[in-house]
Amino acid sequence: MGCKVLKVLFVSVLLFFLSFDLSGVGIVPKPVYSQVKEGVIVVNSETGIYVENELEESALFIQKLISKTTGLPVERIYQLQDNAIILNLDNQREDLGDEGYEIDICSDNIVFTVYNESALFYATQSFLQLLPAEVYSSESFKSEYEVTQLFIRDYPRFAWRGMMLDVSRQFFDVDFIKKYIDWLSAHKINIFHWHLTDDEGWRIEIEKYPLLTEKGAWRGENEVLPPAYGSGDERYGGYYTQQEIREIVEYAKKRNVSILPEIDMPGHSRAVTVTYPEVLCLSNDTSTSVQGIPQNVWCAGREENFNMITDILQETADLFPFEYIHIGGDEVNMQIWESCERCAKLMEQEGFDDVKELQSWFVRRVEAIVEGMDKKMIGWNEIMDGGDLGENTAVIAWQGSDYGVRGVKEGYDVIMAPAQYLYFDMAQSPDEQGHSWAGKVPLERVYQFDPHMPEEELTRFEIDNIMGVQAALWSEYLDSPDGIAEYQTYPRLSALAELAWTPQDMRDWDEFYERLTFNHLERLYNMGISFRLPPPDVIYSDGYIKAVQPFGEKVIRYDESGNTPTFESPVLNKPIKTDRADSFRFRTFYRSQGSITMPAFPYPVAEWNPETTPLNYEEVVYDISDFIDMAGDYNVMFRLRSGRNGLLVRKVSLYVNGDLVDEDIHDGVMAAGRTSNNIYSLALENFSKGDKIKLGIEMQGRWGVDTFGDILLYNSAKWQLNSDD
Ligand code: ACM
Ligand code: ZN
Repeated sequence: MGCKVLKVLFVSVLLFFLSFDLSGVGIVPKPVYSQVKEGVIVVNSETGIYVENELEESALFIQKLISKTTGLPVERIYQLQDNAIILNLDNQREDLGDEGYEIDICSDNIVFTVYNESALFYATQSFLQLLPAEVYSSESFKSEYEVTQLFIRDYPRFAWRGMMLDVSRQFFDVDFIKKYIDWLSAHKINIFHWHLTDDEGWRIEIEKYPLLTEKGAWRGENEVLPPAYGSGDERYGGYYTQQEIREIVEYAKKRNVSILPEIDMPGHSRAVTVTYPEVLCLSNDTSTSVQGIPQNVWCAGREENFNMITDILQETADLFPFEYIHIGGDEVNMQIWESCERCAKLMEQEGFDDVKELQSWFVRRVEAIVEGMDKKMIGWNEIMDGGDLGENTAVIAWQGSDYGVRGVKEGYDVIMAPAQYLYFDMAQSPDEQGHSWAGKVPLERVYQFDPHMPEEELTRFEIDNIMGVQAALWSEYLDSPDGIAEYQTYPRLSALAELAWTPQDMRDWDEFYERLTFNHLERLYNMGISFRLPPPDVIYSDGYIKAVQPFGEKVIRYDESGNTPTFESPVLNKPIKTDRADSFRFRTFYRSQGSITMPAFPYPVAEWNPETTPLNYEEVVYDISDFIDMAGDYNVMFRLRSGRNGLLVRKVSLYVNGDLVDEDIHDGVMAAGRTSNNIYSLALENFSKGDKIKLGIEMQGRWGVDTFGDILLYNSAKWQLNSDD
């Protein structure tokens, strides 16, 4: 391996070069360590793949993957030659861990070094991202690719890097699931949490209870389940046969993705209770779950139910090799149990006063069933409520990261999946499709999440119990338009991948955004993903409209009259001189896609940053004399740029030559996806040239002072902006 000699030399100079910007490698998620060298290597039809050790199966898979992606033969070679990709399984390199890898690209060959064979897949994914983005499209193969010589050493921050998809509210077919897994694996996501059952459809074939899928997988006018979530009167639904599931599990395994199956119980079970009504309580209770569904809870007092649950979980356990089974446990409408004589009897026997105790009894019972199958149980954070679960049981904190903190303090293994940051069913901006109960979840908000919750006082031991992080895509609102599931997932998943993989101190929003828009979106496009195109950032300054970024192949088009720009609208390719910037609208366009529409924003007159932001409310004064030349009604708008926590403002005052002339007192919040009431109105009734005009802003950091943002000033009679833009 010719590269080895070079490497010795190279390691000795590493420290010297560490201060250089290493972000030139556009891989997502960003590798732990990368160093670009001088020169390139050309990968072409002569490039072969050489395997040092016993690696037959995975080597074959990697060879096929590289060959399929590049269109080059990349044939197996059995004699080491130049221009080879060398797969090096090195049992001395325990330091790389199970998922770590090195890539060393030299002038004569390319070496992937791993300790654990499966990590070759991650080396390959990173390598493919070093090639032009077009390789991901099967339509644009080249006969050769120049690859920059470099060295990468990489391993993940978290062992659990997950993504959940709800296939109950909308059904996604086998082909889509495979594509979805492919895309996850390209981002080094290693858990696919498959939400297989819910009130609106049962999607996993259970041989012992065929009605679950014969009837419970379908909605419609004459079906046991009524139409819901856009499915209309026509019969709608589907399920995965056991054969299909085995095939998908195998498919995922080759891509280092483990599948976590979820059978949600005792609530969210309408698809069971309409097909096997005997599982219900002896109760005519008409109350509903939080989603408005009646009679969707398993009776806890019916002993036979646990036989059926055992059977269902046994078939599930047999299909999925992953060590965990997810049993749901969320949002149980326990009121139904209150009026059931069987549940009442059980409560009396067990000495319970409250149905909540019945819920935790149910969860412990299911835990014993799962453990009897040599699996570990995992559930939504509600399963912690009764306490007393086994030490193997893990919890997914969905209602907030404070539930995760509680979980680790109670000794559970925890996956952080707070809806407020990581529910991709939440809308990404005020005008877009999606839920909003956990607020808006724009890309930047996802990126700002740190699963270790730095503001919490966690011990090292507690931190170690945070196994990882995952996002979720619930599918209530995904019935239309086409591609909406992809639009909601990407590029937010690219951000998730980075917070799951890359060390926290290496993550930087601006640098990520540049990498994303520079070439990662191009990769997503070539993979065939209908991702959400980031909207443009346009400002108005000194009489000119200017774009902050067109990036890569994307262009910004504009409309002068407040209409939505189209593919025919003019391109913003130089500053536009105008005195009516407020009537302009802008969109990013990229190939066949257009982004949401944005206004231009006035040029900032000041900024806030971690240095200028007080921890507790204090007035910060800004001189804005340079920006005012007439009396009038002014608006001050706070616009967040980056940072995790946000800014709170409670009062903005206007001073002329030291005298207070107006003030606006209200609570404003500036935080990604949480911005509200961020505009303050002030009247400047008299103005003379030379007056000293100042803004006094009573503000404080929201849970800390890490936020950057702009303070915009504009004449409110001439310019209108929405308060949550
Ligand atoms: C959940 O979102 N109900 C886990
Ligand atoms: Zn009951």
